Parts: sequence; C-alpha cells; structure tokens
Amino acid sequence: TQRTLVLVKPDGVRRNLSGEVLRRIEAKGYTLVAVELRTATRELLAGHYAEHEGKPFYEPLVEFMLSGPVLAAVVEGHRVIEGFRSLAGTTDPTTAAPGTIRGDLGRDWGLKVQQNLVHGSDSEESAAREIGLWFPNL
Ligand code: GTP
Ligand code: MG
Repeated sequence: TQRTLVLVKPDGVRRNLSGEVLRRIEAKGYTLVAVELRTATRELLAGHYAEHEGKPFYEPLVEFMLSGPVLAAVVEGHRVIEGFRSLAGTTDPTTAAPGTIRGDLGRDWGLKVQQNLVHGSDSEESAAREIGLWFPNL
C-alpha cells in the first residue's frame, strides 16, 4: 500500500473545511496515519515547493501558505497518490470537476489559483520526500 502527504491549505482551515476534507478521505476508504495542525515555516515550504522555485507564482504561493495554519496528514491506501489527486480535482478550482474537493468547495474569486484548498503528493518520490519534510519522525 502507498502513502501520500495531504495538506489542507490555510484557506481550507480558515473556512472550517478540514473536517470535510478528512471526511472525504475516510469515506473513500483511506486510512489516516498522522494528522497535525500547524503553521509552516519558510524553510519547510522551500523544501516542499522546491520544484516551483523561480516560477512567477512561487513567492505569492509561499506567502499564502504562511498566512495561517495548515492541516498536514499522511494518508495510506491502495494507489492513494493517484486516488487522492482524483478526489482533489484539477489545480484550478474554477474548472475542477464537480464531485471533487476543489470542484465542490474551491473558490476562484480573484486571481488566486493558489487558494485551492488542498495539496496532494504527485508521485511516490514526492510523497516520500514530502512525508519526510512534514513528519520527520514517521
Ligand atoms: P498541489 O497538490 O498543491 O501540489 O497542486 P497541483 O499538483 O495541482 O499543482 P502544482 O504542483 O503544479 O502547483 C502547486 C500549487 O501552486 C498549486 O496547488 C497552486 O496552489 C499553486 N499554483 C500552481 N500553478 C499556479 C499558477 O499558475 N498561479 C498561481 N497563482 N498559483 C499556482
Ligand atoms: Mg503539485
């Protein structure tokens, strides 16, 4: 079985949607291995978003991710990396399919693609790296 790192981003925590996100994960049959609410640091986000460093949206993304607490979770299950990204929907909430977290709950009032509620690792390599960053004791 696989593990993935899920984040409920600061917009989701602020909008009291952490429980809704965890509910959808559990309803799908995945198992919560670790869950923690905490505010990220620049260092942690530099590691987490290393692949995006230098892109035009990098700085605003990091500022947004520092704007409040994040719910970080390690989620386990068969093909959960793909499975959670399917639950989350595509990056842009405006066009994310209905039935997905971003499609049902995402907002795009303003130009804030980064406020898309959740993060999910995109490969086994990213999952291992991100779980190591957020949960070094796991
Ligand atoms: P994550 O699960 O959060 O990694 O989303 P993703 O895999 O669908 O997107 P990606 O890894 O390409 O980008 C990471 C995050 O950067 C996205 O979730 C958005 O929050 C933000 N982002 C990506 N592309 C853009 C963009 O073009 N503009 C802005 N403002 N933010 C972006
Ligand atoms: Mg990504």
